[in-house]
Amino acid sequence: MVKRPFSKSAGIHTMCVHAGEGIDKETRALRRPIHMANSYELPTDIEELIEVFSWDHLDKFQYTREHSVTPRHLEERLAALEGSEDCVATASGMGAVSAVLFTLLNAGDHIVASEACYTGTQKLLSAHIPRFGVNVSLVDTTDLEAVRAAVRPETKAVFVETPGNPLVYVSDIEKIAEIAHAAGATMIVDSTWSGLITQKPIDLGADIVVHSATKYLNGHGDALGGAVMGPKELMAEVREGGIVHLGACISPFNAWLIMRGLVTLPLRMQKHSANAMEIARFLQAHPKISQVRYPGLEDHPQHDLAARQMSEFSGMMNFSIDADLMGCFQFLEHLEIITHAVSLGHDQSLIIYIPTMFFFDDMVEFDDRQKEKYTEIMGEGIFRFSIGIEDPEDLIRDLEQALEKV
Ligand SMILES: Cc1ncc(COP(=O)(O)O)c(C=O)c1O
Repeated sequence: MVKRPFSKSAGIHTMCVHAGEGIDKETRALRRPIHMANSYELPTDIEELIEVFSWDHLDKFQYTREHSVTPRHLEERLAALEGSEDCVATASGMGAVSAVLFTLLNAGDHIVASEACYTGTQKLLSAHIPRFGVNVSLVDTTDLEAVRAAVRPETKAVFVETPGNPLVYVSDIEKIAEIAHAAGATMIVDSTWSGLITQKPIDLGADIVVHSATKYLNGHGDALGGAVMGPKELMAEVREGGIVHLGACISPFNAWLIMRGLVTLPLRMQKHSANAMEIARFLQAHPKISQVRYPGLEDHPQHDLAARQMSEFSGMMNFSIDADLMGCFQFLEHLEIITHAVSLGHDQSLIIYIPTMFFFDDMVEFDDRQKEKYTEIMGEGIFRFSIGIEDPEDLIRDLEQALEKV
């Protein structure tokens, strides 16, 4: 395989096209092929064999759960895009989150994490990680004083999801990294909702960045995947402890699909952000809408921070309508273009309704104080809305006609 010369100082569009790509030496194809193999022939030369089994030679392969060719191309592209020394591709976003947490944390350690984050991560932190003797403090990471107060001498990591799922609250990466580092802790950012292009956690001081590549990075709603980005040595530990031994390796086919999706990431993120801004303004002015939360709106609680920390505001928002539960589901039923489905960051617009009681009963583990606080914020419930790259006029027309029928 011949690599094209590729400069790390290239612009983001160039990186999306060229990083990790190359010309196939055998066929001169302009695309690297997908290697759907789970095992590789081993050398009989002992020195070469030792290299294959060493983590210092990531261009040599033995077994696909350890690492393999096509996922390695994806890792090269993602490391270049995120500006990290290395990347470990994983089977899913949760594969990435759990690989990091199980690699870094030991019994007796403490972690501070965003209380309002993806429900899978929230459950992992509240119901599972403590079973291994790790103490977890789930705090409102939009509140720097709360983060500072939660840090202890044994705090090993601070985990921040920003923008956070499902409320699109924004936490200050730079300030929280300072707090984490002063305590000797590792700062981890789940940057999934930013779509990577709009936010640079490593430049702001984060040590490790995780993504669900299922979402914006892939962007086409087909493959599942995840990624962990950070310093080389730490990534070698994540690869061995978090992937090889826990097992969440990515399939070469999914890695190839995500690699292909990444080519258009900056173009898609511009469109997601522009569409979302237009739709947020439409919803804000609609008489049946009681609340819209989008970081690009001036009345979003962290709008100023988002404007400093992000280059665009990405495509995620939530809103509430003046209707009871039946009315909310009637609204969903009448949508024609926007699809009632989980997940986000796809080409097509997706929406779900999260009734607040269901959120507390089934999705997260909150104490009474947290329940009271989030009931005040969410009211009866919120629509989590992932704005796609369709024509904004069509999305607005679809919302308008469905709202009329409520
Ligand atoms: C912020 C965030 N992190 C992680 C995940 C989990 O990703 P996956 O579904 O790829 O495991 C999600 C899923 O919605 C998410 O929103």
